[in-house]
Amino acid sequence: MESIVVKGGSQLQGTVATSGSKNAALPILISALLADGRHEFKRVPVLRDIDSTEQLLTELGCRFEFEDSTLTVHVAPPKSPVAPYDLVRKMRASILCLGPLLARYGEARVSLPGGCAIGSRPVDLHVQTMQRLGAEINIDEGYVVARAKRLVGDRILFERLTVGGTENALMAATLAKGTTVIENAAKEPEVVDLARYLKTMGARIEGEGSSVITIEGVDELTPGTHTIVADRIEAGTLLIAGAITGGGITVADCVPEHLQALIDKMRECGFSITTDASSITLDAIELWTGTDISTAPYPGFPTDLQAQFMALMTQAHGTSVITEGIFENRFMHVQELVRLGADITPMSQVAIVRGKPGGLSAAEVMATDLRASACLVLAGLVAEGATRVNRIYHLDRGYEKLEHKLASLGAGISRM
Ligand code: EPZ
Repeated sequence: MESIVVKGGSQLQGTVATSGSKNAALPILISALLADGRHEFKRVPVLRDIDSTEQLLTELGCRFEFEDSTLTVHVAPPKSPVAPYDLVRKMRASILCLGPLLARYGEARVSLPGGCAIGSRPVDLHVQTMQRLGAEINIDEGYVVARAKRLVGDRILFERLTVGGTENALMAATLAKGTTVIENAAKEPEVVDLARYLKTMGARIEGEGSSVITIEGVDELTPGTHTIVADRIEAGTLLIAGAITGGGITVADCVPEHLQALIDKMRECGFSITTDASSITLDAIELWTGTDISTAPYPGFPTDLQAQFMALMTQAHGTSVITEGIFENRFMHVQELVRLGADITPMSQVAIVRGKPGGLSAAEVMATDLRASACLVLAGLVAEGATRVNRIYHLDRGYEKLEHKLASLGAGISRM
């Protein structure tokens, strides 16, 4: 079982580049199922979740070449449109192949993902969407079994905001007959990037990035080329890594406006941050104060940066109230931070963080999910001594060479 050891005390400085977005790459790779032939994707990050997506798409008839972060996908019709349990349980985003398989082949068997560490994460909104577009759906032996002669466009109103649900609806609607209007759609930059690639393939989409997206179905799409948008969560994680050490760094090759909520909150704490078109620069400071955050759908504060921001608040002067508004169980990192000496009181959806600058000391801790593992690495950057973060395979799901990127900024960090 691999782990990462982080020595506390270095003040990070320098410039670090952002990789392509995991949460844009996953739906975009899966959207290739909508068109046979050769798709080319640039700036694809090397991640375990990308490997899992390749395995899933290989099951579904695709072949791959992957070098220098360019991934070429050759798509051909699958022997059978099935996404098996042993693949889906490793990566719940596999549910995103439901829409494309139904739209292309009129049938799909996709395993239910099961729960995950941060919450039950049901897929009821995905299933309801396909029924809305005319599919007949049964749950059989843990699989979603879906059939539709041809999907027919309709009005889809999401009772709750869902990123994946919006992406599944978007992909399915591109080949449905007639017009689909998605209301209460997610506005995340990853949804916009997916829509961008679908339009490259010939889809007719308007309104992506707003809460109403209109899609005119077409009969066929053709493969194209796309450069994946920068990973805003990785960029935010790197920015917080610089901040927690009191260092001054530049995060390059990112989209600053995708991180406006984080930048605003860090400025509220006293950080001095400047941005240009593709980078964010943080000045070194001695101390910062606490502030309150509530995670919310984009453009609100991202739930995927909640754990990392909590680590930063453990070093603030003053108390911070952190509210998790998206997932029902996303405070697993709290007990691990407490083991490092943090003063945090978790209630169900709220955690009170009493800042203690310099109050963390090294310990052996355990990663429980992707963003919690990043949070523990960040805490290790300032904990006195050498912190060992175990089960680091969680980190490798969503961060490309994080220890190399942090080491390039001066962190004492290595993988065991
Ligand atoms: C995406 O997950 C991201 N994953 C998550 O990032 C991110 O935290 C989340 O959006 C919210 O921004 C990918 O894009 C691959 P949702 P997704 O559907 O699509 C409930 C990371 O760390 N819900 O917007 O699964 C759900 O339980 C990951 O990179 C239903 O009830 O999130 C949650 O409480 C973690 N029924 C809320 O909606 C459904 O059918 C938001 O989920 C679907 C979702």
